[in-house]
Amino acid sequence: MCGIIGILGHHEVAPLLVEALKRLEYRGYDSAGIATVSKGVLDRRRAVGKLVHLSDLLVHEPLAGRLGIGHTRWATHGAATTGNAHPHRSGPVAVVHNGIIENFRDLREELAEAGITPETQTDTETVALLTRMHMERGMGPHAAAIATLHKLEGAFALLWIFEGEDNLMIAARKGSPLAIGHGEGEMFVGSDAIALSPFTDRITYLEEGDYAFVTRAGVEIFDQAGVVVHRGETKVDRSATQVEKAGYKHFMAKEIAEQPVVLGDALRHYLTLDGVNLPPELDFSSIERLTLVACGTAFYACSVAKYWFETLAGIPCEIDVASEFRYREPPMPIQSYALFVSQSGETADTLAALRYCAGKVAKTVAVVNVPSSSIAREADLALPILAGVEVGVASTKAFTCQLLALAVMALKAGRDRGHLTKVQFDGHLDTLRAMPGLMNAALTTADDIAKLAEQLAEAQDILFLGRGPMYPLALEGALKLKEISYIHAEGYASGELKHGPIALIDRTVPVIVMAPHDKLFDKTVSNMQEVMARHGKVLLVTDGKGVASAAEGTWAHLRMPEVAEPFAPLLYALPAQLLAYYTAIAKGTDVDQPRNLAKSVTVE
Ligand code: F6R
Repeated sequence: MCGIIGILGHHEVAPLLVEALKRLEYRGYDSAGIATVSKGVLDRRRAVGKLVHLSDLLVHEPLAGRLGIGHTRWATHGAATTGNAHPHRSGPVAVVHNGIIENFRDLREELAEAGITPETQTDTETVALLTRMHMERGMGPHAAAIATLHKLEGAFALLWIFEGEDNLMIAARKGSPLAIGHGEGEMFVGSDAIALSPFTDRITYLEEGDYAFVTRAGVEIFDQAGVVVHRGETKVDRSATQVEKAGYKHFMAKEIAEQPVVLGDALRHYLTLDGVNLPPELDFSSIERLTLVACGTAFYACSVAKYWFETLAGIPCEIDVASEFRYREPPMPIQSYALFVSQSGETADTLAALRYCAGKVAKTVAVVNVPSSSIAREADLALPILAGVEVGVASTKAFTCQLLALAVMALKAGRDRGHLTKVQFDGHLDTLRAMPGLMNAALTTADDIAKLAEQLAEAQDILFLGRGPMYPLALEGALKLKEISYIHAEGYASGELKHGPIALIDRTVPVIVMAPHDKLFDKTVSNMQEVMARHGKVLLVTDGKGVASAAEGTWAHLRMPEVAEPFAPLLYALPAQLLAYYTAIAKGTDVDQPRNLAKSVTVE
């Protein structure tokens, strides 16, 4: 969601704040703002829309000061207007916030009784107003911020600065991550290490409920009981926080293209010469059930993995989206593992689902891209997907790396439970080892896809069909397309089509059929024929054998390399991503920062 940054520096901080916000823009881009304290005077600049508008404003109306905070917003309460943009200010207080203050309506009533009226529709302004109220009643900044914190319910990362205080930031974390960066006589606070990496690689992560007083001399951290605590310092690998387009037009294009390489890296980590490299305590032999929970694309990775865990390991496997799972109070057998899949490792619903399962199952396992994330830290065991930083808001390489980590786990489970023979197991490992090469071949269809996309871009609605593990891939293909091209798209299990959705078929509706020539191929082709019989415009994505036997009469086909079952989703993810990418290009939408979205969803 929103990104926040604070700098207590030696030099003018406005340009540095903007640089850090650029690295945080993936978290939200509805508006941006900064506030500084210069010779005791607090001032701010805010602008609606992308960061570039704030940069332009700062050219005409610069902001001096060696202490400042900044924010890039994904609107929750109140429209994306300048008035609702952060930092929020009340008298001597300015604050930036990521998260939601759930009880802000009650707090507003309390403020109204004290004669204080808000000027914005945001929940965050309440924090500034309360802090100011406490200060007017005689408290200093430290006490006022703590008194305010005690009143807040919800999830937040907060950062305050104060008029007259050239050497103080106050930070607080509950439910949303916050990292403190250590410099030489300089200090930094940010939503993540990526924002801080131009300034420092020495990071301290605040824990749940912590608050911190930050000055140029260092940081003093307190837990939620107000007791001084020591939180260790981590050295962050700066190469792991690099965010460059490397010559590509978009981050998404780069991230699609680098999948053979990152998947190769992940394979080197997870596969040994004759087996898999997973923590020995991850033993599936006596596990009765697996539960996989995630959101969005990560949920579709879980949905594919369900097929793998069931067919390769014979484990009953339940999947759910985290926002439903967390509230339906599902019974959890103690002899089970619960897996939480999340690129960011900060998704609020997934984190809440993990907390629900803690203590109820034999092990909670995080499958994440950010090892320092809340989900990684709170799970009993964390497995990295090793995708590298993913900047494009639409997830691509994280999806395939999630699939890989889950595939390796499913294979281990298959061996642990005696469901796979050594020969079968070795065969599957060989299929995974071949995947980077196959992906490279799949990427050569990019030019053909770009041409097809010109026509897809004309469509109002597009359907994706798949069977077996290709069904969740159809869902992922539809999600990718709708989120970046804004074309309405749906994924269906191809066998479900005749139970309703076939009513949508006419000459104007492209139907993208994801069908490797596997044991379900003929069934899927029958469903495809039903579409063609109703003049549906079919794009068949299949392999050489599939083209030979079923491409006739389709609108178009894409030829993928052959891949052994059941790992085709890893490969077919690439044409699905490229179709979305080039359709968005043809429509001229903002590929890396599609409207209304944010990369890290830290509110429920
Ligand atoms: C879609 C996409 C989202 C995320 C979802 C979960 O392209 O990226 O659907 O997959 O918001 O995010 P993480 O994986 O960070 O928990």
